Amino acid sequence: MSQFFRKEVVRLKPYVFWKISTDTCIKLNANESNYGLPSKIQESISEILRSTDLSKYSILDPNKTSQLFENYIWYGIENVIIDNGSSAIIKWIMSAVLEPGERVLTFGPTFTLYKNIAEGIWTDYSELPFQDKKYLPSIQEISEWKPKLIIVCNPNNPTGHIIEKKDIKELVSKNPHSLILVDEAYIDFWWESSIDLIEQFDNLIVSRTFSKAYSMAGARLWYAVSNKNIISNLKKLQLPYHLNTFAITSLYTLLENMNVYKEQIEEILEVREYTRRQLEWMWFEVGGSHANFLLIQYKSNNISAEDIANQLEKQNILVRHFKGSPDIDNYMRVTIGTREQMDDFLNTLKSIIT
Ligand SMILES: Cc1ncc(COP(=O)(O)O)c(C=O)c1O
Repeated sequence: MSQFFRKEVVRLKPYVFWKISTDTCIKLNANESNYGLPSKIQESISEILRSTDLSKYSILDPNKTSQLFENYIWYGIENVIIDNGSSAIIKWIMSAVLEPGERVLTFGPTFTLYKNIAEGIWTDYSELPFQDKKYLPSIQEISEWKPKLIIVCNPNNPTGHIIEKKDIKELVSKNPHSLILVDEAYIDFWWESSIDLIEQFDNLIVSRTFSKAYSMAGARLWYAVSNKNIISNLKKLQLPYHLNTFAITSLYTLLENMNVYKEQIEEILEVREYTRRQLEWMWFEVGGSHANFLLIQYKSNNISAEDIANQLEKQNILVRHFKGSPDIDNYMRVTIGTREQMDDFLNTLKSIIT
């Protein structure tokens, strides 16, 4: 029945879901939080949902939403759009701004979903390599590609490195004919956001998610921040009743209690550095990460990343390998779990490589 579909859709390969969790697994393969929802938030959401009437559609209350976002990021609802997961905005922005054949440019290795989505919507996708694995290519090189949309993942998944704000600023200011999307899915593990640059430039969107640092991957909550013109145009594409009751309840509860995450985030950073030291002793090359994961490579040729990941999986520990991806073919990405989970991971890893 593929005759009904556009040829780009027929050619597409489905997105690979990296092993859905089971209760017995240590899940270190999708950069979700392993720390759980803080009990205050869990209890509050359950309490509200107990008395919620699911027979009616839910919508965001504009005043309340605006106030909560202003308290959190200084921008209210006219500068903010909220929806189901940041994967949705990437698709949305691409469909909203790209004519058939226009180019989206990214810097790799990076989040693979950008390519998957671009290829599904009849656009030209190009990925330039980061210089020395951490810097953007020169502005001249970028401009020569004449991209309509440029996506920068910052901190970058899967390498964990960051692009300095001054470089983002230069990219945005010197490419006024391109829309720049800065994906800040992991910004809570780093401090230098580009959000305030939306005041200076009219071609910048910054997107963020509550799936990572805020233990809310299951609620599918994402938001993007930009100037009022871009946001109002994006909102035209928003479906009615796009957020469900659970997501709206979770969003308000989260925004009212942002302070309870501080300790959790600090702990993740501490456990990340502990894991890094242990891995380096075990003869792994560990990239400098500014996120809740580490990209690692075993320095011995005895065993590949794919084999290590498969053996870990047999022992119920899931990590992500990148077999078949240029530049990082023999690397694994390991999400930071609790100290106990990381000790289990490290001990199992030790038994595999020795
Ligand atoms: C860079 C990046 N952007 C976006 C996402 C998707 O986040 P969400 O759960 O909001 O769809 C991910 C998830 O891994 C990611 O790594």
